[in-house]
Amino acid sequence: MPRYLSNINLRKLSGKTCLLRVDLNIEPGEEKNAYRVDVVLPTIKLLLKNKIKVVILSHRGRPVLKSTQLLKGLKSDWDFNKINRRLSLKSFVPLLTRKLGISLCFIPYEHSWLLDPKKFISQRKERLFLFENLRFYRGEETNDWRLAKFLANWGDFYINDAFAVSHRNNASLTAITKYLPSYAGLLMEKEIRNLDKVMKNYKRPFTIILGGAKISDKIGVIKYFWNKADYFLIGGGPANTFFAAQGLPVGDSLINRSMLESPTSKILSSFNVRKSDFPKLILPVDVKIGDNKILDIGERTIEEYNKIIKKSKTIIWNGPMGMFEKKGFAKGTKKITQAICQLADKNKKAQIVIGGGETTAAFQAARGVIPRQVCVGPRLFISTGGGAMLEYLSGKKLPGITSLAGVRG
Ligand code: 3PG
Repeated sequence: MPRYLSNINLRKLSGKTCLLRVDLNIEPGEEKNAYRVDVVLPTIKLLLKNKIKVVILSHRGRPVLKSTQLLKGLKSDWDFNKINRRLSLKSFVPLLTRKLGISLCFIPYEHSWLLDPKKFISQRKERLFLFENLRFYRGEETNDWRLAKFLANWGDFYINDAFAVSHRNNASLTAITKYLPSYAGLLMEKEIRNLDKVMKNYKRPFTIILGGAKISDKIGVIKYFWNKADYFLIGGGPANTFFAAQGLPVGDSLINRSMLESPTSKILSSFNVRKSDFPKLILPVDVKIGDNKILDIGERTIEEYNKIIKKSKTIIWNGPMGMFEKKGFAKGTKKITQAICQLADKNKKAQIVIGGGETTAAFQAARGVIPRQVCVGPRLFISTGGGAMLEYLSGKKLPGITSLAGVRG
């Protein structure tokens, strides 16, 4: 049986403290409208309702730590420079307090080493605690058992609700599960169930839309679904890379140079494509250019892609079609969003999964609303994962999920 939070008797855990790993990896200044904050609230609320204290753990950004030669142990002071300081999680305190309607106790990095966790938690009046950015702690990214043990002292059991970072083998995701009973949270459960649905119970026609910057992180998805999906609609950087591989002029467009070493024919032959095969890998037939770069798909491509989306029953989308943030180049992504939303509204059989920070932002911008839930209607699921979603959909096992015994990974 999967060890999901939704399956356990929470009343038995009443009075205990939960270490809850979430993903608050959000650009400083963008906390307020962040989708990733809203979607972890149900797990926090459920725990608090059951009289369980919650210690929230998260990383943010990629702080640069002091060189190891200067350190004597894990807890040696790190470099509080200006760049690292802006990655503090302290800025989430007013936001979480407001959204949850209860006060929250922030645990600064320097204090965390000095406190007796159990005593501290029992003496505080707050029921909700927020740890400082885990990547300020040496050992997080190297999955160090000493840091995991230190963190485990702060709770009686552990929940991973951070699907978006579960492709990282980090101490707060993997090693920690050796020290505490561990479960998958409500958001993690939704991510697993919705992604499994499109991987195992997809309905055809099945369309995969891939854009964004890099093709390298999407090749795994193309390979995994090559014999399952009917269409791969390509845009953004991946399309440019395919153009360049075919020897077409791309000017200063964003491409993955490392992929150019293998010509398109070689990339395609690795998917067992025969010439007679249905042409499922579909590249733009026209593009929009600005500053000598390909910045969006063109009108005829929009039309062609929309026709395919309209007749699809399963869709996976990761990566905008162009540089949608730049004025004049948002149309391709906007039209794809609209076609997907229409499909979700009209076709009762549709299953749609979208993911990736940029795709979600593009979706928000094009729709003019900010989704507050992972499931926008019963047929459209927005994954919080970017890299994690792509790895999961490539059939890889994610360390943060496999470490939760019994949960698929
Ligand atoms: C993400 O935003 O994709 C996750 O939080 C992982 O972040 P990372 O790529 O810095 O490990």
